[in-house]
This record gives sequence, structure tokens and C-alpha cells, in this order.
Amino acid sequence: MLAGKRILLIIGGGIAAYKSLELIRLYQKAGASVVPVLTRAAEEFVTPLSVGALAGAKVHRDLFDLTAEAEMGHIELSRAADLVVVAPATADLMGKMAAGLANDLASTLLMATDKRVLIAPAMNVRMWEHPATKRNLAQLTQDGALVVGPDEGDMACGEFGFGRMSEPPAIVAATQAALGEGPLAGRHVLVTSGPTHEPIDPVRYIANRSSGAQGAAIGAALAQLGARVSFVTGPASAPPPQGVDVIAVETAAQMLAAVEAAMPADAAVFAAAVADWRVISESRSKVKKAPGAAPPPLELAENPDILARISQMEAGRPGLVVGFAAETDDVIAHATAKRARKGCDWILANDVSPETGIMGGVENAVTLISEKDAETWPRMSKTDVASRLAARIAAALQE
Ligand code: C5P
Repeated sequence: MLAGKRILLIIGGGIAAYKSLELIRLYQKAGASVVPVLTRAAEEFVTPLSVGALAGAKVHRDLFDLTAEAEMGHIELSRAADLVVVAPATADLMGKMAAGLANDLASTLLMATDKRVLIAPAMNVRMWEHPATKRNLAQLTQDGALVVGPDEGDMACGEFGFGRMSEPPAIVAATQAALGEGPLAGRHVLVTSGPTHEPIDPVRYIANRSSGAQGAAIGAALAQLGARVSFVTGPASAPPPQGVDVIAVETAAQMLAAVEAAMPADAAVFAAAVADWRVISESRSKVKKAPGAAPPPLELAENPDILARISQMEAGRPGLVVGFAAETDDVIAHATAKRARKGCDWILANDVSPETGIMGGVENAVTLISEKDAETWPRMSKTDVASRLAARIAAALQE
């Protein structure tokens, strides 16, 4: 998987640093060798002894280390790797990288390297959402850095939201993708996500409660396995993932056009909650309410079924087409019928009754329905559902 690859792993000073120990283990299992670098702050969270023992290598800590410089200068150290991975990438480290500071070993290596850099951000949700972090992230992406995560969930500081460092297996998958080694390298996968907005007039629209969280997680998981992902998204509240080609649309008709324009694809996952109807009588000017007048009638027309259209393509159909079925009762029976009706290969069925908390929540409980069977997965985070689905897609495309 990563046989013979050399990873320069920069461990930043955050509580997520404990996960970097597991990351080192997974890299080694995948055949890579790890050269670890600890920032001063990281040493407060993990010890150089445990990092060095797991990596089976010298731990680099100091810019002005005469012995280390005699063995291998820091410029050489930054270039001997195949990839530089920063995990956890703290707000501070991201700020230094974006500003081009080089005042300790980690930041100097990041400035001196001629290799790609993959960062796994980890910080408190407020820090992640701070305009400064957003600016730094945009700058780093523009500078060519690759980003994995962060995930959403409970945080060590007791708060909840985006900011948890991605789990080590996801960082390994992103590393493989960065090195062109993932099982989906060279594959093109299309993903639809989010709700659609169907305008009534210039200020009003029909919409639904989809957050786009599951679709975004699927886009990220596929990209992490090396796929080129075309991510066609309606106006979602969840941010689109890093590392995908984002095609933003509003209406179902625009979504269909964007999907058709992005074809051909090896696989397609239709996670969008497309509005079933659009308003025929869309008004070009704002509809006014007049005293005593009846509310305006809304005449609706059915939207194109994008999943069914692509599933039933005569020529150029993706090798694997995956749909979703959000149901509130008789989930498996309805979803099984839906799979046959639409003509897709798999349906991921989920129960969206309000008491499940799935719609808009962080967890999902799904059943994967194929032609041959129905496989119920345990309830897990949307990120884990996405990783599992991406792995299944990779396996199916290899068959
Ligand atoms: O028919 P229903 O909306 O329950 O089907 C859900 C599946 O079909 C989802 O995968 C959704 O993305 C897709 N769909 C679509 N275009 C529509 C309606 C649903 O692609 N107009």
C-alpha cells in the first residue's frame, strides 16, 4: 500500500497528538517508514520516547541541534521524504505555514520542503471557525497543501462540532491518495449532495432539511481513496470537502445538467435530497400580498429524477450507480422496490423518522441493498458510513 514510502510526520501540540502514535503504527503496517518531528508544544502531549520507539527512528525536535545537523541537515531532512504530513495541524501551525514563518524546526522544514504537504487539522470548533483559520486554510490550499478532515463530533474540550482530527485510517487513506496510491487512483466518481432550492420568485423558494453532511463525507472518503471526485452540490449547510471538484447548483434541473456535463464516470453516488417538484409559475418579480386577496396558488411540476435517468442510460452509464432512500416506515421493503424501479445497482436505505435524529444529525444507520441482498450496518457516524461505502465502491470497481 505504502511500501517503501518515506513520511516526514510533523506532530503539532494539541490533544489529538495521541492519535499520531496510532498513525505511526498504521503507516508502518502499510509499509511506509516514518521520520517523526515534534514541536515543543507536542512534547507536552506525547513523549519523544514513545514516538521514537514506535517509529523506530530518531525523533527530530530542535532546529539548532548540532548532532542532528551533522547527521542530516534540516534542508535535506525536509526533502528526503516522499510526503510531509502534519498531524495534528494546530491553529498555530496552520497560521505559521500560511504566513511563511520559520522559527522552529517544524515550520522551517515546512518552508524548506520541495514535497507535497498533507495537513490533518485539529482544534477547538471555535478556533476552526475563526476567520483567521479560514483565511489560513484558504491560503494553504492555494499554496498546494492537501487537507484531510477535520471531522465533526464531541471534542476533548467538551464542545461539539468540526475540529476533531480525522481518524488515523482516514489519514493513511489520504496519504495514499496524495501519493497516487489509493485503490481509486485514476477513477472518476460523481457525487450529488445537499438539498435543491426551487424558486417561487426572486426571494422565496421550496427547499428541504438536508444538510449535505452525508454527501460531503462520501465525497471526502472517495477522494481519500484516490478518486477524482466531481461533487455536484445544492445549497448545503455542511461545507464541501477538500480535494474534490465542487460544482455548485441550486435547482434540480441545474443538478441534472451538471451531472450530465461531468460524465463519464466510473461510479456515481446520488446522495442529494432533490426536490420532487418545482414551481411552474416561477415569478420574475417578488409576489406581493394584497390586503384581503387570497394567497397565490403554487402550481407544481415534477422534477427530473436524476438517479433514475443516469441508472437507465443506454450508453455511457457509470459502472456502479448508488442511490439513497430516506424512508420513515417499512424501510427495507420500500428501498428494495425503489432500487428496482430506479434501476440503480445499490441503494443505501435509512430511517429518517424524527426519533432517529438522523436527518441533520452526525450519525446514520443504513442498510445497503443490492440485487442479491440487504446488509444492515450498525449505527455509526456519517464519516464512518462514508468510509465504509467508499471502500465497498473501490472493491466493486476492482472486481
Ligand atoms: O425517490 P426518492 O427521492 O426517494 O429517491 C431518492 C434517491 O433518488 C436519492 O439517491 C436521490 O439523490 C435520488 N433522486 C434524484 N433525483 C430526484 C429525486 C431523487 O437523483 N429528482
